[in-house]
Amino acid sequence: MALDVRNLKISLSSGEMIVNDVSFEISHGQMLSLVGGSGAGKTTVCRAVMGLLSDNYIIEGSINFGVRDLRKLNKKQLSGVYGKEICFIMQNPMTAFNPSIRIGKQLERSYLRHHLKAEKKETRKKYETILNGLGLDDTERILKNYPFELSGGMLQRIMIAAAIIQEPKLLVADEATTAIDACNRMELMQQMKKLCGQGMSVLFVTHDLKAASVSDWIMIMNHGRVVETGQTDMVMNSPRNEFTKELVSACELRRDAYDRTK
Ligand SMILES: Nc1ncnc2c1ncn2[C@@H]1O[C@H](COP(=O)(O)OP(=O)(O)OP(=O)(O)O)[C@@H](O)[C@H]1O
Ligand SMILES: [Mg+2]
Repeated sequence: MALDVRNLKISLSSGEMIVNDVSFEISHGQMLSLVGGSGAGKTTVCRAVMGLLSDNYIIEGSINFGVRDLRKLNKKQLSGVYGKEICFIMQNPMTAFNPSIRIGKQLERSYLRHHLKAEKKETRKKYETILNGLGLDDTERILKNYPFELSGGMLQRIMIAAAIIQEPKLLVADEATTAIDACNRMELMQQMKKLCGQGMSVLFVTHDLKAASVSDWIMIMNHGRVVETGQTDMVMNSPRNEFTKELVSACELRRDAYDRTK
């Protein structure tokens, strides 16, 4: 198993429970979509997996990556895991970059941190190829730009590039495609699925059940709890939980409205 999260409970020191007994697993080369409404606890689950929650949060349960419980590793051990074996695409691309450093420089640094012997020129070429594959053509300009000079959708693709260049074993993508238009979003999802075929596992967080439809498994969260988990076809075609049924019919309504406009 690539990722095995068991009985994850996350609360605030005030006692408020944010994530309530969440368990799930992702096999090697599989994609699990975590779907739910706003405030369901999706980002908090991702941040727990990434070891990013501060001491203000009380965490219980285990987060196993392969045979290692990430919650038990020390800082030095974790620094070899995060950013290399496990990469994170954050929900808000605008806050993911340093506003005062050109994109190219930031990408270069993030790659060279884990590839000490890599050549700068080679690294740039690698990025250019990946960015082209993600639908960004004007890479020479983009790499010279500062983050504020680029759109949200461009920054999301750049974040995806910064993650996949590492060839991680696990990619945690929190609303990684929300700023990208619907046509390109489905294409990007297909590309991520292709990477799964090469052995990468993905935890993909989204509001959009349609985007989730390319994944192998879907897990639905509501108010901090998992209300349904199943293989994608089962969840999409025969949802059991009332909240899931609402999500599926909202997705169908949108599709019907789209079909009527054609
Ligand atoms: N430090 C905090 N202090 C207070 N409330 C918090 C804190 N961190 C998280 N929460 C609350 O926990 C809940 C879950 O937040 P989270 O960001 O995980 O939701 P989400 O499912 O990712 O939502 P969205 O789809 O809007 O991104 C929210 O109600 C949020 O306000
Ligand atoms: Mg979120």
